[in-house]
Amino acid sequence: MRDKYRPQFHFTPEKNWMNDPNGLVYYNGKYHLFYQYHPHGTTWGPMHWGHAVSGDLVRWEHRPVALAADEHGEIFSGSAVVDWQDTSGFFGGKPGLVAIFTHHRHPDSDGGRPVERQSLAYSGDFGRTWTKYEGNPVLADGSRTDYRDSKVFWHEPTKRWILILASGQTVCIYHSPNLKDWTFASEFGEGEGAHLGVWECPDLFELPVDGDETRTKWVMFVSMGSSPEHPEGSRTQYFIGSFDGTVFRNENAPETVLWLDYGRDNYAGVSWSDVPAEDGRRIYIGWMSNWKYAQVTPTESWRSAMTVPRALSLRSRGERVTLTQQPVRELERLRTEAYQWRDHILGEGGNPLSGMRLGCFEMIAEFESGEADEFGFKVRASDARETVLGYDTRKQELFVDRTRSGEAGFHEDFPGRHAAKLELRENRLRLHILVDASSVEVFGGDGEAVITDLIFPESEDQELAVYTKGGSAKLLFLDIFPLQSIRD
Ligand code: FRU
Repeated sequence: MRDKYRPQFHFTPEKNWMNDPNGLVYYNGKYHLFYQYHPHGTTWGPMHWGHAVSGDLVRWEHRPVALAADEHGEIFSGSAVVDWQDTSGFFGGKPGLVAIFTHHRHPDSDGGRPVERQSLAYSGDFGRTWTKYEGNPVLADGSRTDYRDSKVFWHEPTKRWILILASGQTVCIYHSPNLKDWTFASEFGEGEGAHLGVWECPDLFELPVDGDETRTKWVMFVSMGSSPEHPEGSRTQYFIGSFDGTVFRNENAPETVLWLDYGRDNYAGVSWSDVPAEDGRRIYIGWMSNWKYAQVTPTESWRSAMTVPRALSLRSRGERVTLTQQPVRELERLRTEAYQWRDHILGEGGNPLSGMRLGCFEMIAEFESGEADEFGFKVRASDARETVLGYDTRKQELFVDRTRSGEAGFHEDFPGRHAAKLELRENRLRLHILVDASSVEVFGGDGEAVITDLIFPESEDQELAVYTKGGSAKLLFLDIFPLQSIRD
């Protein structure tokens, strides 16, 4: 029987449990995607690094498990880099791959504390096989308990490696000449941004503003754990500022909170290391789930998918600079045919898409707001179910409503409507939407408002509508592309 919830163009493990993306690195023509993996069950369990590679960020080849537990503990989240100059000495003067990850040891006794330390593994054969460094762990601090998710990058101006990790509810920054010996540099986060749970999976990178390489800013990502009192569950925030090789400074007021995604299902995402300079992109992928309910989603032999890979940019609007995300252009390879509409006045009750049926597809649309209170799309719809991707003109917000999207009873916080503030520009709204077997990703505007949500419709829920409420709106253009499966 076809697995009705199995994503057709998102990465999923063939079987069993997956969470965070790890060790994202590009090397020798391949994008590597490692991930938190439990090879013996469909819920979180003893953590390994699963592994997949891709030449194009679209089709992935599954590889054997790369890292398994050892005497120091399980393998929690971390990163990987190309050590081009063999600063580590692992590769006899040649380049090679080094993974920097968290060794997690469960408490020995009830009420004991887990031990989390940072360790290395290296590969001289392009990521096929990995050797753990005999000097592990390379970074430990007995005074800290939640101390994990190392992300490492080369900082050219100071010619040294930088490691950042999440510690309790802050981010610690270290530097090293050789990936083995680390010196504490600074700590960021006290009183900054949101503190609704433990901080996890940080990332730190530099991006040009409006594509101008002479004007750059640093972006820090911080994922934040789920707490019972917040229905949102786990979420990722970001900070914008400067980094001098030692200290990260947030340029916004400390109480400002910037969310990477306004949906419920994008967590623990980080960016690829060593994407060639000629490419110039900062490419990101997130875990498309939420710790609130990740372990009880209604799939059987496998659990969890990644978001589509996304290219990140900084755009200025007046004084303000915001992060934008767009699906990577390589996904266009999955387009099969194209359906197009131009300059269509939408009235209440009409549906130019009636009769169309699609399960996995992409839509790019631009609306001109008229008198309507609300306009947008209904996808994965039937008489009984629908997922609404809309814009509320009065509240000026983009939203996804998955209340009637399908199976939702597995967790009380699953059903709901998730919204993101988004102002119209010249009365217009651009939407880029990806719909798969069990997810929707909506990129509003230039990608400054993004909503990623899981949905669990029936396979036959394939009707499609474009709608307005309370008046008319104009559909300036709409392109719909049915997408090929990467599983064929
Ligand atoms: C985030 C996280 C990380 C940790 C990993 C364990 O989802 O909790 O902080 O390293 O998952 O699987």
